[in-house]
Amino acid sequence: MTSPIYAAYHERTKASAENYDQARQLMPGGTSRQAAFWLPYPLTIERGAGAYFHDIDGNHYLDLLNNYTALVHGHAYPPIIKAVREQIGRGTCWAAANEPQIKLAAAIVDRVPSIEQVRFTNSGTEAAALAFTIARIVTGREKVLMARYGYHGSLHEFEIGSFGNSGMLTFLARYNDLADFEAVLETHGEEIAAVFLEPVLGAGGIVCGDEQFLEGVKVAAHKAGALFVLDEVLTLRFGVGGCQGDMALEPDLTMLGKIIGGGFPVGALGGNRDLLKVFDADDMKVFHSGTFNANPVTMVAGEISLRELTAGRIEQMNRLRQMLQSGLNDIAQKNSLPLAINHYGSCLNIFLSESIPDSPIVRADEELMDRFHVACLNHGLFIAPRGMVALSTVITEEDIAAALESADAAMRDVAAESG
Ligand SMILES: Cc1ncc(COP(=O)(O)O)c(C=O)c1O
Repeated sequence: MTSPIYAAYHERTKASAENYDQARQLMPGGTSRQAAFWLPYPLTIERGAGAYFHDIDGNHYLDLLNNYTALVHGHAYPPIIKAVREQIGRGTCWAAANEPQIKLAAAIVDRVPSIEQVRFTNSGTEAAALAFTIARIVTGREKVLMARYGYHGSLHEFEIGSFGNSGMLTFLARYNDLADFEAVLETHGEEIAAVFLEPVLGAGGIVCGDEQFLEGVKVAAHKAGALFVLDEVLTLRFGVGGCQGDMALEPDLTMLGKIIGGGFPVGALGGNRDLLKVFDADDMKVFHSGTFNANPVTMVAGEISLRELTAGRIEQMNRLRQMLQSGLNDIAQKNSLPLAINHYGSCLNIFLSESIPDSPIVRADEELMDRFHVACLNHGLFIAPRGMVALSTVITEEDIAAALESADAAMRDVAAESG
């Protein structure tokens, strides 16, 4: 029997399907971004404004993912668009300095306690590469330790760890298990240049790091002579000074990305002057460059994105996430579907199971989740295929109420197919 959920998706999204057929001829798997792909094919989005976007078949969606947290003020946020338009009119990039980079760097240094200086990149992945390079130079060691199912971008050494595999240069330990990290550092400490950790696992399913665990890993890393790198690419949105501000955690190096670009490609590595001086022409150990690094368009957008992310707005997003979460629990119960939710701040991760698995990539509810995701799209609700939600500052209580209606309809469809 064909699934009514998938049949409805095909019926509503014919132009997206055609685009996918064409894209597959031109790009492997039809995409350049695996996290933005799902079966049977991803939607082609034409435009977005505020909390909503529209696909090329004319359907509109409440966007509860916000480009995996990057669009903290939603789509086409008017203050950012206005400033970017003005900047574009003056040129988009040049091989010389610009003023917006100073403003964004100052905003980051102001907000994040452990950061004295920053080096900009075009992605979080590149920020991880830079942190790894510094750690190798400073320690003379070659390897890295990270959490199993942690995520630090798509550099091979880190990407394998996000799938739960160790490698030639990659050691793994269990998240929130200090003894496991200590054991690896005790046995292999002399090979490990740095320990990388997210304060809250993002791709790993919005798992909050225990504060004693995070601090304990830092102490163990230092004891082994390794650097402690905190990945705040996703988590900076959770507090004015990121998670480290709220958790009073002081890493050696901090990776940033997503919201500091205001919707444009970005990454950054922050830390103290002593570590970052490897890039300084006065004492250069690393020739770090990039054609679009710190381009003024991204810098202008990022500075506004940060400036407008106030403590009050963070609090408001947290409140709406709570409202969404309790509503989801109610409707799952009503539809007799199992539901378990991980959350932190303005993000949550849905699992259609009684308990939470080790990671969204080793879940028993994969088939059910795939159907729920597509059913949500059929009812105009956009979430990540793996069940992740990230709110934005422009989402209102009315939007959350609408989201719950859509999720209810989607759960009814799923329950009908399962029953
Ligand atoms: C915690 C974390 N680190 C690093 C990255 C990689 O950033 P980018 O996609 O900009 O390369 C991501 C992206 O999702 C992330 O969530």
